[in-house]
Amino acid sequence: MSVADLRFQLTDEVATVDFGRRLAKSLRGGAVVFLQGTLGAGKTTLTRGVLQELGHAGAVKSPTYTLVEPYELSGLKVFHFDLYRLGDPEELEYMGIRDYFLEQNLCIVEWPMRGAGILPSPDLSVDLTVSGTGRLAIVTASTRRGDSILQSLITQPLKTQPLKPKHE
Ligand SMILES: Nc1ncnc2c1ncn2[C@@H]1O[C@H](COP(=O)(O)OP(=O)(O)O)[C@@H](O)[C@H]1O
Ligand SMILES: [Mg+2]
Repeated sequence: MSVADLRFQLTDEVATVDFGRRLAKSLRGGAVVFLQGTLGAGKTTLTRGVLQELGHAGAVKSPTYTLVEPYELSGLKVFHFDLYRLGDPEELEYMGIRDYFLEQNLCIVEWPMRGAGILPSPDLSVDLTVSGTGRLAIVTASTRRGDSILQSLITQPLKTQPLKPKHE
């Protein structure tokens, strides 16, 4: 079975972090993940969930000025990009982005369209939009690797549900 895209309703900030954590379990082999959505859509919040699941303990700030924040977590090199302030996609060449986008690394990119033409294409895209008081996340796979990440995402066991009180 091949899955084109999946939708998740994220009712609050905690749900976005949880979703990031769930996604991280499927990303341990590395991937290129684009995070789309306007300012405040929840891209950095989702990234925080991914990084926490991989073992990062501290805060996560969007690297708006430095463009990229590197992590080494659970034996995985993770690069969190925020290209909001990127003036020209060519600047990515000077940063040496080829060294980041290696097969075995996990690259998460906020504002990927700012790097159009230079960035490699993603395995997975997550589109975040405001939906009521929460967010809607639409996850799209565009490579075979992305497809298998989606597959793994939907076959993950759901979080343990709280037990319902018993009625005697
Ligand atoms: N599912 C959600 N429902 C409501 N608010 C959310 C949700 N996910 C994140 N937020 C809130 O949205 C705000 C912006 O989040 P942020 O991750 O910084 O956005 P972005 O990186 O896309 O600009 C934060 O205040 C965060 O608490
Ligand atoms: Mg951000």
